Amino acid sequence: MNLLKPLKWAGVGVGALAAVLASAQLVQPESPKLRTEPSHTIQATLPASSALGPVLERACGDCHSNTPPSGWYARVSPLSFIIARGASEGRMAVNFSEWTGYASERKRALLLASCADARSGRMPVAAYTRLRPEAKLSAQDVETICEASR
Ligand code: HEC
Repeated sequence: MNLLKPLKWAGVGVGALAAVLASAQLVQPESPKLRTEPSHTIQATLPASSALGPVLERACGDCHSNTPPSGWYARVSPLSFIIARGASEGRMAVNFSEWTGYASERKRALLLASCADARSGRMPVAAYTRLRPEAKLSAQDVETICEASR
């Protein structure tokens, strides 16, 4: 009897938590409607054979391009809100979809920072690569990013 009571309350707690998480799914962040002009992207400035474009799309695109985050994590709250916020802050720091709008010194500085961040593992953010393992950079990917800054 005394043993069952705490168990019962634990059950109520788990049920309540599940209900809160379930109803949280009804609320999702509004994704900004960003239009990408293909000729403004960094990809447009690269030769078709360049490995850089695909690396940036795969590992950085969710937060540094006009393409909204698309993985499962973008549909499950509260993760979806955290990712949406990271994307809006990330786009302010560097947006590879609006690349041609940066002055050439700015482009160079952003590529140097990208190289340093990729090398140190600061980017992509570790909490994010846990959700999206394919965004992890290989040593070759880091080289590809760093070559572009030379
Ligand atoms: C999950 C979202 C996310 C991903 C993925 C991501 N970033 Fe970022 N990035 C941010 C946010 C948020 C900021 C702004 C805050 C900060 O600097 O930490 C930022 C800032 C930056 C900056 C400017 C800050 C600085 O170091 O001067 C660079 C450059 C950058 N990211 C490069 C990259 C590159 C390259 C990739 C892919 C290899 C990448 N990021 C992947 C979220 C992300």
